Amino acid sequence: MVPIPYLSNVIEVQNLSKSFDAFTAVDDASFSVPEGETLVLLGTSGSGKTTTLKMLNRLIEPDQGTIRINGQEVKSQPPEQLRRQVGYVIQHIGLFPHYTVAQNIAIVPQLLGWSAEQIQARTDELMALLKLPDELEARKPEELSGGQQQRVGLARALAADPPVILLDEPFGALDPITRSQIVNEFKELEALKYKTKVMVTHDVHEAVSMGHQIALMDQGRIQQLGAPQDLVFRPQNDFVRRFFAGQLFRLELEVATLGDLWPFLNGVKGGELQALRFESTATLWQVMQKASAATGSDPLIAIAGKDWRGDQSQLMVAFQRLKNKWSRS
Ligand SMILES: Nc1ncnc2c1ncn2[C@@H]1O[C@H](COP(=O)(O)OP(=O)(O)OP(=O)(O)O)[C@@H](O)[C@H]1O
Ligand SMILES: [Mg+2]
Repeated sequence: MVPIPYLSNVIEVQNLSKSFDAFTAVDDASFSVPEGETLVLLGTSGSGKTTTLKMLNRLIEPDQGTIRINGQEVKSQPPEQLRRQVGYVIQHIGLFPHYTVAQNIAIVPQLLGWSAEQIQARTDELMALLKLPDELEARKPEELSGGQQQRVGLARALAADPPVILLDEPFGALDPITRSQIVNEFKELEALKYKTKVMVTHDVHEAVSMGHQIALMDQGRIQQLGAPQDLVFRPQNDFVRRFFAGQLFRLELEVATLGDLWPFLNGVKGGELQALRFESTATLWQVMQKASAATGSDPLIAIAGKDWRGDQSQLMVAFQRLKNKWSRS
């Protein structure tokens, strides 16, 4: 018998609600996140994203609903177990200003009772992993650039190697260029790739490029939960439609990868002479950007490992077919 691939849900949230006095900040939110996947909480300011995230690691206690991490309700987990399981990158970075970089990274390992040698070894390892020069260890956060502070915040969340990471606007404090650079590095980071993640952002492009699922929130309610292509091509209500409307064309191209287009491609078979080569994980947006920056008006495009080459107009024909399929299904 062929085994059925099965991804177990590491995080399961059911009917979560939270009010502050008479104000409902989170209203009946439910979602689950399979192992190694990323769920993005997307929405405008005040929509309830941070409140939802903080309930996952009990910084805020919910009024109603259940949260399970690795099958066990978080409210019955001792704080120490929760710290070991869940790393947290705080909105606006949130490093302790009077602590050095090394002391900031050591917070959770210290609470867990690691030895000084273990902590130093782990700190050195994380500094290298996040491309932070050793000499920063003794500095205070204010003596770092915004991008470096961001990396320290991430190092601190990863310190005890938890299987779950919660990230609240992890790139929010950065200028656009540093931001897109760190977003790309972040996606490639082995230490993060296989973690189960819930990430808050208000950036639609970050959401579609990083989320396996997106929960789009408004006024405390999840307006739609699904894969990026579900929200972009099949919005469930007017709020979702309007939320993406201003960026729709770019988002459509960001959601579609060459791998998605492959079944719909007609083109010249074989050969890769003078073609721009892309992996099948490249998005159509990335391909179009590279192609328009290339010399010559209409460069040939090739897909690594596929017996195909073609031009941008052929890709767009295939994209129309893919779009029809995604809008229907
Ligand atoms: N401790 C609190 N007491 C009272 N109201 C609160 C509290 N925390 C949050 N709120 C309110 O709950 C709503 C949701 O807040 P939350 O921080 O979850 O929003 P958010 O989606 O993270 O917004 P942002 O994008 O600005 O960070 C807001 O209207 C906020 O004012
Ligand atoms: Mg917030």
